[in-house]
Amino acid sequence: MTTLSIRNLTKKYGHLTALEDFSLEISSGEFMVLLGPSGCGKTTVLRCIAGLTDITGGEIYIGGELMNKIPPKDRDVAMVFQNYSLYPHMNVYNNVAFPLKMRKVHKDKINESVHRIARLLNIDNLLERKPKEISGGQMQRVALGRALVREPKIFLMDEPLSNLDAKLRTEMRVEIKKIQEKVGITTLYITHDQAEAMSMADNVGIMDSGKLLQLDSPQKVYTEPANRFVASFIGVPPMNFIKFKIIKEGSLFLKLDDNSYQQDKRSIIKIPDTLAENLENITGDTIYLGIRPKDIILLKDDADFDGLILKGETAYVELLGDDSIAEVRLGDSSLKISNVTSGSVIPIVRKEATIGIKYDRIRLFTNSGESIHIKL
Ligand SMILES: Nc1ncnc2c1ncn2[C@@H]1O[C@H](COP(=O)(O)OP(=O)(O)O)[C@@H](O)[C@H]1O
Ligand SMILES: [Mg+2]
Repeated sequence: MTTLSIRNLTKKYGHLTALEDFSLEISSGEFMVLLGPSGCGKTTVLRCIAGLTDITGGEIYIGGELMNKIPPKDRDVAMVFQNYSLYPHMNVYNNVAFPLKMRKVHKDKINESVHRIARLLNIDNLLERKPKEISGGQMQRVALGRALVREPKIFLMDEPLSNLDAKLRTEMRVEIKKIQEKVGITTLYITHDQAEAMSMADNVGIMDSGKLLQLDSPQKVYTEPANRFVASFIGVPPMNFIKFKIIKEGSLFLKLDDNSYQQDKRSIIKIPDTLAENLENITGDTIYLGIRPKDIILLKDDADFDGLILKGETAYVELLGDDSIAEVRLGDSSLKISNVTSGSVIPIVRKEATIGIKYDRIRLFTNSGESIHIKL
């Protein structure tokens, strides 16, 4: 069991800064996921840990030992990539056995290890087959087997499921998670798929443009996103944002920042006096209200509702089997609402829609995107 620690890692490719002051601590046996859009630097993090690329600054420790000057082959990390990179001319047995043969491990020990791993991964009936004679999911398992067979200290996975179809991807993510738990190996898994990250991670780090924006449990990044980027990256459909302005008329109020919207007193939020001091210094500024699609309720026109009430028009309703999503236009902006066909009010396209949002479901973000940690 081993810890992995990355401190103030910087990586430049010429003028391009791929990683900037990037720090991460992974405890022994943890399954950590790094999540971020394509090009944000995820693969670069893994390559730095494995020693496949020089680093510009910072330190990498595996099991407390500084790795900066240790060559890749002595770092004891295993990597699995998106394109399984199996040897096509070798059968499954020899593909899995390969790293042990390279290390001149005794034949009997190789045989025992390959069979143990093959049973763990449920590929023990495929050992004689060549890669072209097995499915994509099975190839992925063989690639995992080849990485695990030499019992590395750290397991690095670079979008290993991207080449699989949607159904297999969901099955394999559960399976990888189970295998990791069984083996107990410290793992850093990277993906651009938020559902994958949320379902697999003990802790998830969200990255953008070479920086780590938030590192927390999946639950926490969902309920308490540090900023608008994280808020909109996690959850499907993504969080809605509506532009408001803070105004002071005796007390502080939040008012929709949209000239085309017909204001009414139910669309104005009075800030409780106990919270006013948190917002006083940004009076006059734009502020974003973040609301999850599942937290918006369709109301009858004249409903009595304790919360923010807005009026708009339904633009479309999308039926997705288990879910149903409506888009409602409000002045210049629009909101997505999920699960709309299960409530008592059903939206009708091109007709007026009245929506309600409980105050405690609203998250506030500054104009520059930082979360404001107060609950209305
Ligand atoms: N060998 C390289 N030379 C120059 N730029 C690179 C190299 N590898 C990656 N980059 C750049 O670094 C940034 C991060 O890349 P990468 O780590 O592959 O992102 P991700 O895996 O998140 O998609 C991108 O802008 C990419 O174009
Ligand atoms: Mg990548």
